Amino acid sequence: MGPGRAGMSLGMALVTAGHKVVGVVGRTTESAQHGAALVGTSAFTLDDRLPASDLLVIATRDSQIGSIATTLADKEPVAGAAVHVSGLTPLDVLEPLRSIDIAVGSFHPLQTLPTPEAGAARLRGAYVAVTAEPPLLHVLQQLAEDIGATPFPLDDDAKPLYHAAAAAAANFPLAALSMAEDLFAEAGVPWEAARPLVEAVVANAFDLGPRAALTGPVARGDTATVAAQLRAVEVEYPAWRVGFARFVEVLAALTGRSEEFESVLNAEDDR
Ligand SMILES: NC(=O)c1ccc[n+]([C@@H]2O[C@H](COP(=O)([O-])OP(=O)(O)OC[C@H]3O[C@@H](n4cnc5c(N)ncnc54)[C@H](OP(=O)(O)O)[C@@H]3O)[C@@H](O)[C@H]2O)c1
Repeated sequence: MGPGRAGMSLGMALVTAGHKVVGVVGRTTESAQHGAALVGTSAFTLDDRLPASDLLVIATRDSQIGSIATTLADKEPVAGAAVHVSGLTPLDVLEPLRSIDIAVGSFHPLQTLPTPEAGAARLRGAYVAVTAEPPLLHVLQQLAEDIGATPFPLDDDAKPLYHAAAAAAANFPLAALSMAEDLFAEAGVPWEAARPLVEAVVANAFDLGPRAALTGPVARGDTATVAAQLRAVEVEYPAWRVGFARFVEVLAALTGRSEEFESVLNAEDDR
């Protein structure tokens, strides 16, 4: 249900693993047909009578899960269980289905799924957060393993913090990399030249741990170098002045050097 990026990535991965997708439900017939063609099955909308299934997978945006659960409960679908694939949304949102004796859970791939094809490939080797009571918990763990992923249990209460962590891991580095891309370009250096550096940093973050992997002038307490960097950014690329200073502030706090860098950052604020 929801033939978008996550739904069809999962659908394609499940079909590859030998599972049968008995139908794809879209908001419109056209989107359902497009999704159904990817997994060789039939297309439906919520107005149709839906086929019986062992598991309903609700892969719409988070804000739509509740209304879909309510609509489905009114239709009394023949399903053994229902999951959503959101990393944030609590299981309470599926209460309308639980109240008609359908076991409910969530199945959140900790992976970026940009298109059905790329997403299906990326699910192999990914981790999947699974929230459910047994026996559905075991079914979902097996489903993750079937697509080549590693399941881990996630408490419903921990979802907001877990989702914040996922955003920090997936999104925040891209803010720093966007800044680096712009500053390298201004310095006449091709972005590709940064690839070995960035790949080594990511590898080190897992081999050594993110804090132990930190090198550079903030980690060394080299305030003069950081002051020179801040001046260069201000002159050559002022749009990143505030962003660069914020990253220095976070790194200084991380390394216990906030006091050392206070005067450098205050000088920056005074400009
Ligand atoms: N993409 C990722 O990287 C990723 C990774 C892990 C988890 N997730 C989770 O996956 C869920 C969906 O995200 P997404 O990125 O796949 O979003 P998406 O690409 O926008 O897909 C959502 C799909 O749901 C459809 N839809 C909306 N209302 C519907 C309805 N009433 N009945 C049937 N289908 C309906 C949308 O159709 P229309 O376009 O016609 O509205 C669209 O095809 C979210 O809970 C997200 O947290 C996503």
